[in-house]
Amino acid sequence: MPKLILRCNYLKNAPPSHLENFMTYIGTRDGVEKVESTTANLPPTARQEDLIQDILRKIHDAGRIHEYYDYLQRPTRENASEFITQALENNLDIIAKKKNYMDYLANRPGVERTGTHGLFSNEGESIVLSRVADEVANHTGVVWTNVISLQREDAERLGYDSAAQWQALLQSRVELLCENYKIDSRNLKWYAAFHNESHHPHVHLVVYSTKPSEGYLTKKGIETMRSAYAHDIFRQEFMSIYEPIGGCIACLKCGEKGCCVFDDTVNRFREKAYEADGFVFGSPVHYAGATGNMTAFMDRLFYSELRGNGNKAFYMKPAAAVVSARRAGTTVTFDQLNKYFTIQEMPVVSSRYWNMIHGANAEQARQDAEGLYTMRVLGRNMAYMLRCKEVARKVGVELPEQETPVFTNFIR
Ligand SMILES: Cc1cc2nc3c(=O)[nH]c(=O)nc-3n(C[C@H](O)[C@H](O)[C@H](O)COP(=O)(O)O)c2cc1C
Repeated sequence: MPKLILRCNYLKNAPPSHLENFMTYIGTRDGVEKVESTTANLPPTARQEDLIQDILRKIHDAGRIHEYYDYLQRPTRENASEFITQALENNLDIIAKKKNYMDYLANRPGVERTGTHGLFSNEGESIVLSRVADEVANHTGVVWTNVISLQREDAERLGYDSAAQWQALLQSRVELLCENYKIDSRNLKWYAAFHNESHHPHVHLVVYSTKPSEGYLTKKGIETMRSAYAHDIFRQEFMSIYEPIGGCIACLKCGEKGCCVFDDTVNRFREKAYEADGFVFGSPVHYAGATGNMTAFMDRLFYSELRGNGNKAFYMKPAAAVVSARRAGTTVTFDQLNKYFTIQEMPVVSSRYWNMIHGANAEQARQDAEGLYTMRVLGRNMAYMLRCKEVARKVGVELPEQETPVFTNFIR
């Protein structure tokens, strides 16, 4: 499941009658669906199950939001309620009338208010809700309605559990909206509200041009925005990628310490690895091999985990390697990375080609249609393997018994 979900839709004038019932739910959800802590973990009610089926039938992308994934993982009353609420709220633009929509975004329970309501826009722009609601309701062009959603733990760790942080992000990225919606900056209007929902804090972002005929958004535009917001939000976590990483000095102290003597990214990654179900390791090609940083990282990570902790972080967890290069050396690098998995009892997940993509930068890589296809197939195959493993665990298929290793150095 992506860490950040960007969902883009646009306002339509007339609500289709078959969705009208949902409006009643939205209007009354607070009273009706409040999940008590005593019942939160019970299986969903029959009414919830019916509503979920109805939503999945009628709202084509409802199955792709964070809350649906949570519900599939743990089908409880609480998760059912979270999914229903969010799926409907994401589609309020279809269900509600435009004017109600702005009012709901600005005033709904859980909204963080910046004044008398929760709407914000460019720095210093004061917002009169009734005026904005009228503006949107009377707009004759397209009004785009976006939801940017994070997982609660990411939002808390990275500071995106407050309106102020989202405000700063969106205000600093106005040019992204102009470029991707193809709207001149002089005509761009945008409003947002932060909803501090318990499982998935999110912002609603409304975008349009004062020139009604202006603006269109492509799939590529959506992906560019998603990737830019994700990059800004998760930037702190990417920083370690750019730190130089030293190689293994064969001191063998990891056997005593339980981790590498150099307390850097490698040890931090190892801690996270215990919680992971599977892995994808990637590297660009440098001189027909993995980069120096990646080689040092993998050497120390796998060696210290094996010696220091009996390989618990990796044992029988599916893994895949992906490599990118301008031109050559991809298969060698792919082989190099796969060797870490096959020496430590990790099932290797494959695709329809060796997992490589070509290009000197991300823009060129996006043009490698076969590379993208290979990565999509790999993603699906990885997801399937993880589900199989989970099912196996649930029905009691134990991991194989581990034999004491034989270690001979060839000579004795
Ligand atoms: C030190 C160095 C060595 C490289 N060696 C190769 C190579 O052997 N084969 C190749 O196709 N590209 C080579 N490249 C190009 C990179 O593979 C290519 O730019 C990479 O895909 C870009 O990924 P990045 O932006 O994540 O670094 C090399 C680049 C650098 C900086």
